[in-house]
Amino acid sequence: MRSSVVLALSALAATTLGAPGCENRTLDEIHQAALKEGGTVTLWHGGDEKNQQDGLKQAFEKRFPGMTLNVTVDLSKYHDGRLDDQIANNNVYVDSIILQTLHDYPRWKKEGALLNYKPSEFPKIASDFVDRDGAYYGYAIFGWSTTWNTAKYNGSLSDFSDALLPELKDKLIMTYPNDDDAVLYAFDLVMKKLGPEWFDALVAQNPTWVRGSATPGDQLALANTSYVAAFATGGGRGANVNTSSPMDAPFVTWPQTAAILKDAPHPEGAKLLHNFILSDEYQFASPQWTVRTDAPADFPNIFEEKNTNVTNFLPWMLDRPNVERLRFWYESRLGTAQGLSPLEDDM
Ligand SMILES: *[C@@H]1O[C@H](CO)[C@@H](O)[C@H](O)[C@H]1NC(C)=O
Ligand SMILES: *[C@@H]1O[C@H](CO)[C@@H](O)[C@H](O)[C@H]1NC(C)=O
Ligand SMILES: *[C@@H]1O[C@H](CO)[C@@H](O)[C@H](O)[C@H]1NC(C)=O
Ligand SMILES: *[C@@H]1O[C@H](CO)[C@@H](O)[C@H](O)[C@H]1NC(C)=O
Ligand SMILES: *[C@@H]1O[C@H](CO)[C@@H](O)[C@H](O)[C@H]1NC(C)=O
Ligand SMILES: *[C@@H]1O[C@H](CO)[C@@H](O)[C@H](O)[C@H]1NC(C)=O
Repeated sequence: MRSSVVLALSALAATTLGAPGCENRTLDEIHQAALKEGGTVTLWHGGDEKNQQDGLKQAFEKRFPGMTLNVTVDLSKYHDGRLDDQIANNNVYVDSIILQTLHDYPRWKKEGALLNYKPSEFPKIASDFVDRDGAYYGYAIFGWSTTWNTAKYNGSLSDFSDALLPELKDKLIMTYPNDDDAVLYAFDLVMKKLGPEWFDALVAQNPTWVRGSATPGDQLALANTSYVAAFATGGGRGANVNTSSPMDAPFVTWPQTAAILKDAPHPEGAKLLHNFILSDEYQFASPQWTVRTDAPADFPNIFEEKNTNVTNFLPWMLDRPNVERLRFWYESRLGTAQGLSPLEDDM
């Protein structure tokens, strides 16, 4: 039963392969080419916990026996500078780079550092998320939410103004806006709507400021946490936490963006990875926002969300003088971000 479904699906896929200028091999054909090349692909993925892409590594290696996904997670703002060093020294050893720092991609393209390559599903990615030459494209929608510990707070939280509730005094855990540009963008959007008095009142709540967008959600998920809620962070997973989207100011979403390096040592491995993460089997495994325009009917559509504009993050990130000015404004209020890299801090 299952294998006949798979056969039927791959027959269907075969008939739709080969949009002009796009990859026209099946995943299995690319798999064979990647094995011949050595069976490895080195990926640098943005994030703030070492294990954040373990799920992708397991899914990829299980789907493609003999392949190793050599993935390193670090803050996008650190990965990008290290990749610049590789490019400058003609020593590119990364195959695929998937980051939050969207402003890097047009520059890398201009420098000739990226491979123009269109995976087979490229025509099905929303046009807002793609470079038309295939130098880079979004593969997943990331964003920030409100998170709270359900054992410590009866009811629901969502709006940014909820952060000012008296019962949340000393109980908030928040990511420094001056340590992560996407969190900075969240604060910028809130302040434009609720004004600087919102931030003054937030500071008066005495939040605990931490490094890493995953740290608040991870802390809130602990049974013995001393915190109750977080706003504008990466959400949380676990039985003790719930998440929601704020409605009193826009919230942040963006297409996490992927590119293959022109000098990638494992181009076939990188092509296999990119075709896989854009495939039906990966994109449509469970209902969530997707970069694809042809998602099943029960999937939420990011373009129909009322209170976020998923295409605004790139132009905001490209304005580096504005980003720097805002970053230092928050730094002058909160001090420099304290603590180890969130990958090393055991939180
Ligand atoms: C597949 O793509 C390659 C290179 O992009 C091209 O040379 C070839 O003709 C294409 N094959 C088919 C069957 O379209
Ligand atoms: C795996 O990735 C690391 C870090 O990017 C790199 O130093 C190492 O050479 C890679 N290993 C292989 C086998 O390519
Ligand atoms: C939440 O409600 C339950 C049941 O009404 C109560 O036992 C518990 O103390 C409440 N928790 C908080 C944090 O108010
Ligand atoms: C999470 O909160 C929403 C309200 O924002 C509520 O409808 C939902 O039932 C909650 N889910 C859980 C698992 O508590
Ligand atoms: C809370 O629980 C974690 C394990 O879930 C443990 O590592 C930590 O030490 C505990 N913290 C306190 C303050 O008890
Ligand atoms: C979303 O942002 C983009 C880019 O800044 C802009 O062109 C577009 O008009 C915005 N969409 C809405 C619905 O505001």
